[in-house]
Amino acid sequence: PALDSIISIYEFEQIAPKRLRPKSWAYIAGATEDGLTNAANAEWYRRIWFRPRVLTGVGKANTTTTIYGRRWSSPILNSPTSSAMLAHADGELALARAFSACGNPIIIPTMSSYPLQDIVAALPEGHPFFFQLYVHSDRAEMEKLLDEVCALKPQAILVTVDLPVMSKRETYAKYEAQERQSKKKLANIPMSEKATVSAVDPTLNWDDIKYIQKRTGVPVFVKGIQTAADARLAYEYGCAGIYISNHGGRALDTAPPSILVLLDIQANCPEILDHMQVFIDGGIRRGSDILKAICLGASAVCVGRPILYSLTYGEAGVKHAIKILEAELDSAMQLVGITSLDQAHPGLVTTSALDRY
Ligand code: FNR
Repeated sequence: PALDSIISIYEFEQIAPKRLRPKSWAYIAGATEDGLTNAANAEWYRRIWFRPRVLTGVGKANTTTTIYGRRWSSPILNSPTSSAMLAHADGELALARAFSACGNPIIIPTMSSYPLQDIVAALPEGHPFFFQLYVHSDRAEMEKLLDEVCALKPQAILVTVDLPVMSKRETYAKYEAQERQSKKKLANIPMSEKATVSAVDPTLNWDDIKYIQKRTGVPVFVKGIQTAADARLAYEYGCAGIYISNHGGRALDTAPPSILVLLDIQANCPEILDHMQVFIDGGIRRGSDILKAICLGASAVCVGRPILYSLTYGEAGVKHAIKILEAELDSAMQLVGITSLDQAHPGLVTTSALDRY
């Protein structure tokens, strides 16, 4: 269908299997084992209700947000995902162009299909970027990569910590098994996340986080926080931010849905939310999901699979997806009674219904 006719993120999901090669679809859409965490990520946003305030005067809202002193159009980033080229030949270059054109920050993953320098060059001069780091078990490799990254002046380094070993991705494994059976020689698509993760150091620990901070002097976030206890540790270890994530249900299946982790932090150590940037991903599909996360203390949200699906339309598709989410966020804000995101607070949502689950 024409891009103009797509009005929700769900439509991008529905169309994606028809626009991607079957193997790429199996890889991108897949999750670990039964996919319970993946499904729950989105479902639990729907179990949180708003407490809309009326008559507050909501003539004009704006979705802008400040991260590291810089004003952005909205608190929406791309989740770092490997091999964007599976979705479109322009891969991360299109992502960089689309996010920067929309006035949004971008995350560049270790496992990009294009060289880091080329992706940064696709951004307007001085447009900040975040870098997602997989820590290589060969530390000399890691140092080399960090030098390269730091020379390009990233806003922060997001160290992925939720996938110390490769998880069991059944949809994709099934696909591979069928392929072997039918002995078809299909185009060999680089499944770089799988390859990288096998190079990721499973002994990675908090001292390494400290080391990366010291070595780079760049703010460090930990990506893959799944408990309040670890959020607190991240704070104690001097992290500039936490990134609540379960890898979109691609790491441990039945790990908690991301929004519950944020709630857990709100309940147990709310003070750290004031001292760190808080990114969250997993299941963000609506502007109202974004608003709920912001109300509960997130600084920004990241969107994974849907951005790759929209990327099947190239740069224009990604811009369209961002605009859909921004328009939904804008109207959700007005409908809940606020006109700027700094007016969002936990009192605007009720989570008591969650106790029944
Ligand atoms: C990912 N994710 C991921 N995370 C990361 O830190 N490094 C990576 O290289 C990748 N690669 C990757 C590839 C693909 C195809 C997917 C779908 C995901 C996880 C990603 O950053 C994010 O946590 C989830 O995708 C968020 O969930 P949703 O929005 O897809 O539900």
